[in-house]
Amino acid sequence: MSTATLIEPPAFEPPVVRLSGVTKEYPGGVAALRGVDLTVERGELLAIVGPSGSGKSTLLHIVGTLDLPTAGSVTIAGHDAAALSDRRLSALRAQHIGFVFQAFHLVPGMSAQDNVAEGLLYSGLPRAERRKRAARALERVGLGDRMKHRPHELSGGQKQRVAIARAVVGEPDLLLADEPTGALDSASGEAVMELIHELNQEGATIAVITHDTEIAARLPRQVRIRDGRVVEDSGPRGPLGSGRGAPGAAEGCGPETAPLPGEVR
Ligand SMILES: Nc1ncnc2c1ncn2[C@@H]1O[C@H](COP(=O)(O)OP(=O)(O)OP(=O)(O)O)[C@@H](O)[C@H]1O
Ligand SMILES: [Mg+2]
Repeated sequence: MSTATLIEPPAFEPPVVRLSGVTKEYPGGVAALRGVDLTVERGELLAIVGPSGSGKSTLLHIVGTLDLPTAGSVTIAGHDAAALSDRRLSALRAQHIGFVFQAFHLVPGMSAQDNVAEGLLYSGLPRAERRKRAARALERVGLGDRMKHRPHELSGGQKQRVAIARAVVGEPDLLLADEPTGALDSASGEAVMELIHELNQEGATIAVITHDTEIAARLPRQVRIRDGRVVEDSGPRGPLGSGRGAPGAAEGCGPETAPLPGEVR
């Protein structure tokens, strides 16, 4: 069945991400997130930055609906994650979110083109169309001449560009990248960040998780987390560069936490 039949688009344009009071406690009593509020509007490019152990990957898992919070609410493109069955949550993820990880996670022994086509596995599209779109996505990331290469025949930077092509081939509402340059030398890392900037300029909404403050500083918005809390948020700047959010936005008084018409809490 096509995922499109499982998730109806909402009637208004909600933020891509809306977290409210999100807490995550792992078994054993570790509170990895403690009351996180975060709103991401369509077209944003933001860094989620913080030291090791601060909760960045936990936050990515929760925003990506790979995990549910212990408390608080998670709304992705208007859909309340807690209200969905596992099956509908998978459909939501397949339809709305693309993931990129530090370690690429490509399927070994499979060509770049087939790896990218995997990103459309749940799209309901026939295989030939998936492969055609995968070829286009590989051209888009500058790897049109590497379609048949398997992961072990690619450099680290090329592998990450294949992973990015796989993540965006289905045109998700949100691209989540966890330390996308963490395993790369500085030149390949630079090329990957350039690609991320270009995809954002073409309209993609992207959150980059990093502990690298230099990478974070070059993105339009920085959300700083420490010990599971947002300690600083430079605030959303729309795609037109409409200015920074008000100071104190991280405490919940900024414009991005204002209720929206039609919002269901
Ligand atoms: N599955 C788990 N079970 C128990 N505790 C966990 C689990 N995953 C993470 N933690 C703990 O939660 C806290 C946040 O971890 P998280 O992986 O989110 O940090 P991070 O900011 O991504 O760190 P890094 O920069 O090193 O990747 C850490 O104290 C970690 O030990
Ligand atoms: Mg991490």
